[in-house]
Amino acid sequence: MKPIGPVNALYPMPTTLVGTIVDGKPNFLAVAHVGILNHGTPQYLSIGLHQSHYSNAGIHANRTFSICLPPERLMVETDYCGIMTGRKTDKAALFDVFYGELETAPMIRECPVNMEMALHDVLKFESHEIFVGQLVQTYAADDVHDDGVIDLPRLKPLLFDMASKKYWSVGTALGQCWGAGKALKRKTS
Ligand SMILES: Cc1cc2nc3c(=O)[nH]c(=O)nc-3n(C[C@H](O)[C@H](O)[C@H](O)COP(=O)(O)O)c2cc1C
Repeated sequence: MKPIGPVNALYPMPTTLVGTIVDGKPNFLAVAHVGILNHGTPQYLSIGLHQSHYSNAGIHANRTFSICLPPERLMVETDYCGIMTGRKTDKAALFDVFYGELETAPMIRECPVNMEMALHDVLKFESHEIFVGQLVQTYAADDVHDDGVIDLPRLKPLLFDMASKKYWSVGTALGQCWGAGKALKRKTS
């Protein structure tokens, strides 16, 4: 085992589409640097956006944003939202856009899961702004969940890996969380 430098190896991450209203119009950008900050009540999630992006101003102005989960079949559209800027392109024209409770957090009907976020805090780093949002509401297509429990094989999330710079799909389930370790517990107790 040898040091390889400060390499961030926390991949894969889900690729998301973050929705904002900028200059009165919906805009979406691809965001893979998302975080789960408070897995309790309420739920707080974070997104890390480079300060140069067009989207940031919309979050500051409206204090809302959405986190939409594109499935594998939206890989091309998602990547497009990650290489084009809303300053020059109407990326929202690609999608059937809808709004929920917050009214200024545009979401995407083609994404099976969409989360509405109310801005809670902004952390400024050297190059990025971390927007911390409170999860207000989640909208899901009937065919990807059972009573609010989302099923990964049916969702088919688009995974992002920085090392290979490729999109990946979810593999097979291996075992039960909070369960697989019990076999070892029996051996050691
Ligand atoms: C797969 C993928 C993931 C990305 N993840 C992030 C991210 O987490 N944070 C970020 O600031 N930019 C990320 N980007 C880059 C932005 O999506 C991109 O610069 C976009 O054009 C900015 O759009 P805007 O100027 O309309 O806001 C990602 C791009 C791709 C292709």
